This record gives sequence, C-alpha cells and structure tokens, in this order.
Amino acid sequence: GTGGLVDRHGRVATDLRVSLTDRCNLRCTYCMPPEGLQWLPKVEQLTDDEVVRLVRIGVELLGVREVRFTGGEPLLRPGLPGIVAASTALHPRPEVSLTTNAIGLSRMAPALAAAGLDRINVSLDTLDRDRFKQLTYRDRLDDVLAGLRAAHDAGLTPVKVNAVLLHGINDVDAVPLLDFCLEQGYELRFIEQMPLDAHHAWTRGRMVTGEDILDRLSTAHTLTPATEDRGSAPAERWLVDGGPATVGVIASVTRSFCGACDRTRVTADGQVRNCLFARDESDLRGPMREGATDAELADRWRIATLGKLPGHGIDDPSFLQPSRPMSAIGG
Ligand code: GTP
Ligand code: 5AD
Ligand code: SF4
Repeated sequence: GTGGLVDRHGRVATDLRVSLTDRCNLRCTYCMPPEGLQWLPKVEQLTDDEVVRLVRIGVELLGVREVRFTGGEPLLRPGLPGIVAASTALHPRPEVSLTTNAIGLSRMAPALAAAGLDRINVSLDTLDRDRFKQLTYRDRLDDVLAGLRAAHDAGLTPVKVNAVLLHGINDVDAVPLLDFCLEQGYELRFIEQMPLDAHHAWTRGRMVTGEDILDRLSTAHTLTPATEDRGSAPAERWLVDGGPATVGVIASVTRSFCGACDRTRVTADGQVRNCLFARDESDLRGPMREGATDAELADRWRIATLGKLPGHGIDDPSFLQPSRPMSAIGG
C-alpha cells in the first residue's frame, strides 16, 4: 500500500513515540514497584540501527512529522545521541523531542542539542527532597534540577515539566511547582493519573482530577483559558495571572482527547501500539530480523493503525488495563 497511518475513525497518526528502554533509574510509585520489573532481555530490545530504521520508515513512507523518544528512561540508552542525530538527518526533517526524568541530563544536554534534539519534557512531581524520595525511592532531586537547568541552557526549549499529583502525598506541591516553573521559565503541565501502573491499583475515586488541580492553583493564581487552537495536544492550557506564561492540564481521564489523537507508538521491543490502551500489538521486530523490506514493514504498520479504537474506554464497565505498564509502553 501507500499513504499514511490512517484509522477507521478518520484520524491520521503523524506523531511517533518510541520507547527506547523499559528500564528506569527511578521508581515512581504510580508507575513501577520498588523492586523494579522483569526487564526485557537485551536480544528482544531493538538495536540502535533498528530503531533508526523504523523512524526512517515512519518519516519517509508513513507521513510521521514528530518523533518523541521515551522509556522507561531514554537517557539510559547509550546510543541516544546517535539515534537523535540519525532522526534529525531525515527528510523531511521531523521535530525530535525527548520525555525524560532528567537524571544524567546535566551531562548529556549539550551532546543532545548538538545531535539536533529540538526540545525536552521532564517529569517532576515535587520540589521537596523528602517527598521526592518517598515518591521515587531514590534521593535524586538535585540531579533532576541540574538536568532541567542544563536542558534550558542548551536551548532545548521550551522545556516542559510534567507532574502527576497523588492525594495526600504531593497534592500540596501543585502551587510550589507552578511558582518554580514560572520563575525558571519552564512550561508546567499537570497530568491526571491513568490506569497504567504495574500493580493495577489505580482507582478513579483516588485520582486527582483536572478540576481538583485548577481549584488548587486558583488559590494562588488567576487562570484564564488560553485561546490558541489546541490541535491534537493532550494539554489544555491556561494563562497564569494574565500571561504570557501558561500552565497545562492533561486530563486524559475526565476530559479525554482521543478524538483528535495523532499518535502511534513503538515499544522498546519493536511492537506497534496504536493506542496507550491498545489490547493488542503488531510485531515489527520479527519481520525486520527475518528480512522484511521497508515497504512490507510500512504495510504492517498501516494495518496495525486501521484497528485503532475510538477511545481509551477507561469509563466502560468492560475496561481492562493493558498488561504492559506505562514504563514498557512509553509515556
Ligand atoms: P508536547 O506537548 O508536544 O510536548 O508532548 P506531549 O504532552 O504529548 O508529551 P509528553 O511525553 O510530555 O506527554 C505527557 C503526558 O501526556 C504523557 O505522560 C501522558 O500522560 C499524556 N499523553 C501523551 N500522549 C497521550 C496519549 O496519546 N493518550 C493519553 N491518554 N495520554 C497521553
Ligand atoms: N498516569 C499518568 N502519567 C503517568 N506517567 C507515568 N505513569 C503515569 C500514569 N499512570 C507520566 C510520568 C511522565 C510521563 C512520561 O508519564 O510522570 O511524566
Ligand atoms: Fe490516543 Fe489512545 Fe491516548 Fe486516546 S488513549 S489519546 S486514542 S493513545
């Protein structure tokens, strides 16, 4: 076949998210158990060349215009600067970005900028050292803050910060996080927790909602809706105290944005997922290692996209959480 990644609901996927590893050096409680998970064996993980080949097929044959590398923690991948350089050398050049916890970024930011990386999103849920330790099981807050600064200094902007709030644990951090990001020039977004935790312990009743977040922020700041067209962006943005700074709310659960979804995903072991919550995956690694051509791999990817469901269905009585956790799918 020819053409892009089209599904039966009229959506076209042009934003590719590639998980480079399922491993992580933090243990965010809403994502991973403290002891870690059963990691993918090395042979099942795509090599750097295989990752670059799939990105190239996406860009050259399937209309992918934006590429985001995620994990697990993508900075744990030694070949990351090379993968970024090969991706930014493609035609038409895609926008290339990274979602990371920023540990190690203070060292890596200049090399990533030199490789052509456009911008960075950093996960940070609290500015309090003890709560950071409690939330992530690691005493690494200073590394994250140094990484953020290095990304900003290297011009990987706008630097965005992603925060997930948990009732009774770090919901008190909402306003301090916003004040910090306003002061440093980072764009903060709060994310509703989704049922993608390794323990399958998520419940809707315990989730901090977008509305809870706005209520909390409104105690310290005046928020007015930003007027720009949101397009397919997960974040709804608000001007803070008249702007120009904004804060975003990614209300994946209470105000889902699946109708405008333009995302396709490849896991670290080379499986296409047409949705974070997809029930099945399509293998590209096996065929690739057995000698499939670019055109054959592109066809598999198109077929995998066709069956994308209209939405995540979190509110359906029959909803089933995917068996892979967020860290293995790629945020
Ligand atoms: P930019 O706004 O372009 O920087 O990208 P982004 O917000 O898509 O990137 P990021 O990786 O920072 O994603 C932030 C969060 O948005 C993710 O952790 C998810 O919680 C949520 N998100 C991103 N894509 C999807 C999606 O396709 N479906 C759902 N439900 N949530 C998503
Ligand atoms: N729900 C919402 N966001 C999550 N993240 C990880 N697990 C979840 C979840 N269950 C976020 C991280 C990071 C991004 C990649 O995904 O905090 O910012
Ligand atoms: Fe797209 Fe699935 Fe996310 Fe909805 S839940 S926005 S369909 S990836």
